[in-house]
Amino acid sequence: MNKLKLVFATNNQHKLMEVRAMLTNFEIVSLADINCFEDIPETADTLEGNAVLKANFITEKYGLDCFSDDTGLEVEALNNEPGVYSARYAGEENNFEANMAKLLKNLKNNPNRKAQFKTAIALNIRGKQFIFEGICKGTILTEKKGERGFGYDPIFMPEGYKTSFAEMSLNEKGNISHRGKAIEKLVTFLNQNHW
Ligand code: IMP
Repeated sequence: MNKLKLVFATNNQHKLMEVRAMLTNFEIVSLADINCFEDIPETADTLEGNAVLKANFITEKYGLDCFSDDTGLEVEALNNEPGVYSARYAGEENNFEANMAKLLKNLKNNPNRKAQFKTAIALNIRGKQFIFEGICKGTILTEKKGERGFGYDPIFMPEGYKTSFAEMSLNEKGNISHRGKAIEKLVTFLNQNHW
């Protein structure tokens, strides 16, 4: 039987591998696989809004079922900044070192270090739209710890742990992370044929 084709609106090979392993009943294709090489607008002011923009762009332009994700780090003492602007907090897109330095500078020695990562996933399937969310609560460290991961991982310590995300293995992080939880909800939904 032919597998149902679903576009995952990303070219991040790590995310693709993770999702393909969990959704074996589906043919998961990337943006490159459908020859989409343009910059998809991410101009919404919420994570959910950006996830919806990306998924709708693909469904409308290519006529394909699709899901997309958007993630941000919300720091309580900074009015939930950088949030939807996490990738470009210090200006240039995805400069991880500059982003962490700006965050630590803005937080100074504020005793309230509470923060959370949030991932929103938007799924367009057979003319309907579904949203999934994953949250990982934790605290912002006063300095970087660990060499693994990416983004804000070296300064984020998840609740109940004594290590930063950057000190964890991929599996360990994936089991408790915002993205892991959101993807788990998407996978359960798709595998249970709830659509
Ligand atoms: P994206 O929506 O997955 O591209 O994530 C946007 C930005 O959030 C990234 O550029 C990173 O700065 C940050 N980010 C997303 N996920 C993580 C994570 O798991 N750990 C640390 N930073 C992350």
